Amino acid sequence: MSTTSDRKALIIGASRGLGLVLADELARRGWLVTATTRRGGGELQARADAWNGRLTVESLEMTSSEQLAALRERLEGEGHRLDLLFVNAAIDRGNLPIHEVSTDMFTEVMITNALSPLRALEALRGLVAPGGTVAVMSSDQGSISRNTEGGYELYKASKAALNQLMRSYATRHADDGQTKLLIDPGHNRTQLGGPDAPLNPRESIPAVVDVLEAQTGAPGLQFLDRHGETVPW
Ligand SMILES: NC(=O)c1ccc[n+]([C@@H]2O[C@H](COP(=O)([O-])OP(=O)(O)OC[C@H]3O[C@@H](n4cnc5c(N)ncnc54)[C@H](OP(=O)(O)O)[C@@H]3O)[C@@H](O)[C@H]2O)c1
Repeated sequence: MSTTSDRKALIIGASRGLGLVLADELARRGWLVTATTRRGGGELQARADAWNGRLTVESLEMTSSEQLAALRERLEGEGHRLDLLFVNAAIDRGNLPIHEVSTDMFTEVMITNALSPLRALEALRGLVAPGGTVAVMSSDQGSISRNTEGGYELYKASKAALNQLMRSYATRHADDGQTKLLIDPGHNRTQLGGPDAPLNPRESIPAVVDVLEAQTGAPGLQFLDRHGETVPW
């Protein structure tokens, strides 16, 4: 593992919302951060300019296997050895009951929220050092046992599928020495979380980073909230 001053992180999906704050918070704590966006410029580039080398921006459409392979090649070429690979990107397409969801919408959300994060982990895990961490932003909305209130059926199903696929990933790579985490950040005010969410990402993301740092070196897969408590499957 690297010393605290040169820990390296790659954040997938950091143009705005929780991913942007996560990239910024890691840089503030002294990490060297690479963060991806699918649009040039914007707030992420402004943060990168402000951090003057501590935060660099890469371009990635996460659903593209070709772009994942190209990103891996670029980072490998630069000799990147990651202490943290964090897949944050996801989408929500509103609050329809599942029988009203079109096949196209179902496919888009499942590909983005469940299939692509796992493809990203597989494409990029070789960059993660032994003893490093691979993490994906999940949600307690993906908890099957907590699904007792109505609403957001497709989004919930996509996060449950993500969790299930992450368990398969963890079994497949049980002996790779990497810490594996699914993170529930709580309900935050972002484009996805909406303006009435109770949490400000500037308050909840430092708690998430505390959890990531505290879990360094922990074996196996855990599904944790921002307080480090286990979320039931
Ligand atoms: N906000 C909440 O209350 C909450 C609660 C629990 C879990 N989460 C999870 O936290 C994560 C971040 O959510 P957020 O609230 O910050 O959402 P957000 O503000 O909507 O941001 C989503 C991020 O994902 C990126 N993204 C989406 N699809 C992508 C793709 N195909 N390729 C690359 N990037 C893509 C977006 O990039 P563009 O700008 O290019 O669209 C954006 O940077 C998600 O996994 C979400 O499910 C959020």
